[in-house]
Amino acid sequence: MSTLNGKQVGRIVILTGAGVSAESGLATFRDSGGLWENHDPMDIATPEAFARDPGLVYRFYNARRNQLAEVSPNPAHEALARLQREFPGEVFLVTQNVDDLHERGGSVQVCHMHGELRSHLCNACEERMPATGDIDGESRCPRCATAGRMRPDIVWFGEIPYHMDRIAMTLARCDLFIAVGTSGVVYPAAGFVREARMAGAYAVELNREISEVTGLFDEQRQGDASVTMTALVEELLAD
Ligand code: OAD
Repeated sequence: MSTLNGKQVGRIVILTGAGVSAESGLATFRDSGGLWENHDPMDIATPEAFARDPGLVYRFYNARRNQLAEVSPNPAHEALARLQREFPGEVFLVTQNVDDLHERGGSVQVCHMHGELRSHLCNACEERMPATGDIDGESRCPRCATAGRMRPDIVWFGEIPYHMDRIAMTLARCDLFIAVGTSGVVYPAAGFVREARMAGAYAVELNREISEVTGLFDEQRQGDASVTMTALVEELLAD
């Protein structure tokens, strides 16, 4: 147990977004210079876009996966991993990020609701498997041997995010909800703060700026995630 602003805290849910990986050098989606500035998400991140121009979609996600080799976790990822290791209660980490920086920062439990770059999905046998390299329209599934049905293991717009039952269950019983580095415009993740507060949780937003959903939180701490997350973890572990 710990306390934050007088509230007893034993069960924490943390939602992370692209802002957590920004200081590692990965572009966010909607900030200036973000991924959706040069690409319309509807041309990349939908099943229809994949059917229309698979080459473009393969190239986009292959490049993002290859970029992971050039970046490292930052103090925000490390602080979260430390909280998971040292907090005496429950810490459930759910991320919209498809990079692997939480894992490389030391987190062992990471719920990737939007999928993972380090995984591929076969549309023929529906198996998810570790990505060992680039895929394209000719790639063969290592499990069922079907060619031409491999896709990035990414949840696109119009598809249902992974692990929603588990997430709903943990939100329904958490007493602290923290959202870090997310703009709060993409549902269902943007609605998690409401679910947590309905369950009686205290809600803290960490962001570099005011977001679409700042008003739904009990408090906002503004600044870079590497600083605000590290400070919040210190505070939670100090008790
Ligand atoms: P966005 O790009 O929408 O938002 C990033 C947020 O991080 C913004 O609110 C920034 O202010 C904040 N931010 C940037 N740098 C920061 C820093 N150093 N410290 C703290 N905050 C910082 O990214 P997401 O909210 O993650 O989905 O986007 C949600 C989903 O939209 C993504 O998972 C992706 C995208 O379309 C799919 O691809 C399905």
